[in-house]
Amino acid sequence: MKTLLLNKEEVGSLISMKEVIGTVEEAYKAFNSDQVIQPAYTCIRLPAPRGEIDFKLGYNKANEIISMKASSGGFPDNPTEHGVPSGMGTILLFDARTCALICVMDGSLITGLRTGAAGAVSVKALARKNARTITSIGTGNQARMQIRAIREVMTIDTIHAWDHHPQALAQYKADIEREFGIPVVMARSARDAVKQADILVTTTRGKGSLVEAAWVRPGTHIVAIGTDTYGKQELEPEVFRNAKIVVDSIPQCVEKGETWHPLNKKIISQDDIHAEIGEILLGKKPGRETDDEVTIFDSTGMAIQDNTTSYRIYRNAIAGGTGTSFEFIPS
Ligand SMILES: NC(=O)c1ccc[n+]([C@@H]2O[C@H](COP(=O)([O-])OP(=O)(O)OC[C@H]3O[C@@H](n4cnc5c(N)ncnc54)[C@H](O)[C@@H]3O)[C@@H](O)[C@H]2O)c1
Repeated sequence: MKTLLLNKEEVGSLISMKEVIGTVEEAYKAFNSDQVIQPAYTCIRLPAPRGEIDFKLGYNKANEIISMKASSGGFPDNPTEHGVPSGMGTILLFDARTCALICVMDGSLITGLRTGAAGAVSVKALARKNARTITSIGTGNQARMQIRAIREVMTIDTIHAWDHHPQALAQYKADIEREFGIPVVMARSARDAVKQADILVTTTRGKGSLVEAAWVRPGTHIVAIGTDTYGKQELEPEVFRNAKIVVDSIPQCVEKGETWHPLNKKIISQDDIHAEIGEILLGKKPGRETDDEVTIFDSTGMAIQDNTTSYRIYRNAIAGGTGTSFEFIPS
């Protein structure tokens, strides 16, 4: 029985962002076609100064692959004390017909790739067709990934960015302008940035309201990425009043997404959630219907996005003869 091993460099060379946008669409459609079993993720928290390790599992009947992603984070002493990164990821792929382990790959790039692609898929389904200006609240890893993906599905004229760390903001401007040639305006306040947005992307680690409802212009599409766990928050709950609310997964978003906050404040009820995004991609529910409506895509991230993306990487590796083969059970 052969298992393919793929390291970080190989994984990075085996897939393009365009392909990831396709695999994330495939994941969302499978999720809303009863093709997916995705148990709640489990997590082990270790005593400080150590962080945590999460395990995300997904079975996709459409490709007969079971995936498990283990991702750790929050180990500040790792680089200095142990010579390993502060966060790491590994993905295992099992052939669901036999449960044979067919691939072990580095998983540190996949979360960023599939999260960027999630934003891009929502832009295709929900943003105004004449949207040209992006506002980025937060300027870390995910903020960069969102731009990398969204530029594949629309022309971005300008990015207005804000971060509470001026140094992070300046570095983001330098990186985005160098890599993509898109001008970045460093906003003086979150308010100044949000007021310019056709598309508002939030990717902070915030734990309180950063974006006020009064700043959001009619017709804005909001990509809410940062709140993926209970306790985090980026939007004032009032932003949700009268908006078209689309989520990746209703059970996940009502429990630990941005949607939890307006539900908790009784500004909306669960019936006010318009759709899971897969329903829109499948044509079961409409996407944007008018130029004036505010649309919100609340993403908490799903194991099935890791499943379809890593399986595509595996197939590309097999097709190109990339990687190292290992026999856990010698024949
Ligand atoms: N929805 C998903 O599928 C998904 C996937 C991956 C990561 N995430 C989440 O996205 C968030 C960002 O991840 P990242 O890898 O880009 O992190 P990062 O640390 O690279 O970047 C976070 C950025 O936000 C800024 N920031 C942090 N707290 C802030 C605050 N209170 N106000 C304003 N700015 C603040 C930081 O200065 C930094 O520039 C995290 O909460 C992460 O858990 C979500």
